[in-house]
Amino acid sequence: MSTTAVQPHGVHERIVKLLASPPAEPDASAGYLDLLGPGGEPAPTPAQRVMQSTFLPQIYERLWRPIGFNLAKGWPAGPDTAEENALARSWLALGRPADPRKPDMTVLDVACGPGNVTRALAEGVGPGGLVVGLDASATMLARAVAEPVPGTVGYVRGNAGDLPFRDGVFDAVCCFGGLYLFKDPWAALDGMTRVLRPGGRLAILTSRRPAAPLVGRGSELAGRITGVAMFGDKEIVRALEERGYRQIRHRRLPLMQFAGGRLG
Ligand SMILES: C[S@@+](CC[C@H](N)C(=O)[O-])C[C@H]1O[C@@H](n2cnc3c(N)ncnc32)[C@H](O)[C@@H]1O
Repeated sequence: MSTTAVQPHGVHERIVKLLASPPAEPDASAGYLDLLGPGGEPAPTPAQRVMQSTFLPQIYERLWRPIGFNLAKGWPAGPDTAEENALARSWLALGRPADPRKPDMTVLDVACGPGNVTRALAEGVGPGGLVVGLDASATMLARAVAEPVPGTVGYVRGNAGDLPFRDGVFDAVCCFGGLYLFKDPWAALDGMTRVLRPGGRLAILTSRRPAAPLVGRGSELAGRITGVAMFGDKEIVRALEERGYRQIRHRRLPLMQFAGGRLG
């Protein structure tokens, strides 16, 4: 199948300037910058195969995410989606939606899926800012670009395990609901750290292996079968410390955890 390369304009042009190896003819024909090409997704685990289906993106934002994530976050005690979005904006030092003046920051949303978190991040960024959502799944991105977004938002089809951006070009990096799906989460975390500027902030929402040994082992086994990694609390915090993050924040929920910090 051949694709038509469409010259990028506006937000895509701004994103191309952030790329380490900009393609000679960037393909934006699907509404996002496609850096993987046909069939270019990383080898999928069972969980990733579901993400690449045409069905899941249709129900992801209204059903799958609120039900699945809220249960894993300990609903009704855990934070709901609105609180989660506010936490992301706060930990990343973005503005609040109601602020009259918001910072013109450059933000990366890794594993953006249908753009739900990307749009929430954009609500905290000023008109001179840029919010880039990156995902490997063409079906998820098709859903993302169908939603109205401000001119500060653009999407890239790329691999979180091999981020296509230059070093230190982002003020903030967010990765919600993605780390546990990556083939090598620590390499992905290295990549997020590489593209973050010194003093920039990172926020992660990922899985949490419960401390109770039996439950912990059960969730680990289920994870291994489906391709979803379960992380211990200290594992994530230690990984951030080892990569030079300071002011580390960590919030434990029954089966999920938020972690974040400031680089250097
Ligand atoms: C559960 S969704 C998360 C969407 C959104 N960030 C959220 O919090 O609701 C996970 C996304 O990770 C993407 N993904 C998985 N592995 C990836 C990889 N190696 N590179 C880029 N995206 C990946 C999937 O395509 C899917 O859209």
